[in-house]
Amino acid sequence: MTEPASAETASVRNPSARLIDGKAFAANLTQTIAQEVRAFHDRHQVTPGLAVVLVGNDPASEVYVRNKALQTHRAGMRSFMHMLPETTSQAELLALIGRLNHDPEIHGILVQLPLPAGLDPVAITNAIHPDKDVDGLGEVNAGRLALGQPGIVPCTPLGCLMLLKSELGGLRGLHAVIIGASNLVGRPMARLLLAEGCTVTVAHIDTRDTAALARQGDILVVATGCHGLVRGDWIKPGAAVIDVGITRISLPNGKTRLVGDVAFDEAVTRAGRITPVPGGVGPMTIACLLNNTLAAARRIVGGAA
Ligand code: GUN
Repeated sequence: MTEPASAETASVRNPSARLIDGKAFAANLTQTIAQEVRAFHDRHQVTPGLAVVLVGNDPASEVYVRNKALQTHRAGMRSFMHMLPETTSQAELLALIGRLNHDPEIHGILVQLPLPAGLDPVAITNAIHPDKDVDGLGEVNAGRLALGQPGIVPCTPLGCLMLLKSELGGLRGLHAVIIGASNLVGRPMARLLLAEGCTVTVAHIDTRDTAALARQGDILVVATGCHGLVRGDWIKPGAAVIDVGITRISLPNGKTRLVGDVAFDEAVTRAGRITPVPGGVGPMTIACLLNNTLAAARRIVGGAA
């Protein structure tokens, strides 16, 4: 799907594309959540608790779940980590989820994906009680989102939506192009943007001319896991670009660097606004996980504050 940058990319120079500072936005959101967690505790004598389950030793997943635990503590919530061996069976994992579903100290449950081969992510995700499914990936919450009903919304698309609304205000009538149709990001993102009144196009692996579609987007959300896929000349001048991708690449000097799915140096000359990698969408995902855990605790405990 990768196309060479066109001559046009080099000729359109707008180095002033505004950087969307997801790190600062997430820090503010986490601070607000921490205040609300204290108020919730004062009112109900309950501290929201989040259980994170990691199966196996995927190094990237280990970093993600450690960060989740750290931020959960920072927000004043309780973090329960379950680090299980690669050899864990489906029955063992389902049994753990069953216990967490019934544990009154736990208000949110997240099973880190991807799971090792042999474990069925659909069955595992659907085993989490919908009220504690703070990832919003189970069929009940995904169905609610598809039907436009209130429910728990997946953290990454929720974070992207918050950034877009804070940058652009109302989104009604804008054409949003999403590249990537995963259950984790692309599909829920499409449903959220549709609910905001956007006209939504979803491009995916079988789409014929993704670049031509991308060029129509007032909003361009890219979540493919294919680093550098989106070139500068794929971007409508002035568009708001949200780069969900995050890949660690090796440099010729032996060092490594995190990069997104968008060729940032090219895109920054065309976009009106763009999220950097790192420091854009990534921090929002964890802040939204905390947001969803507090909201779940409120619903489970039955209070409004
Ligand atoms: N792996 C990468 N992102 C996510 C996420 O948002 N939730 C879960 N459960 N696993 C992930």
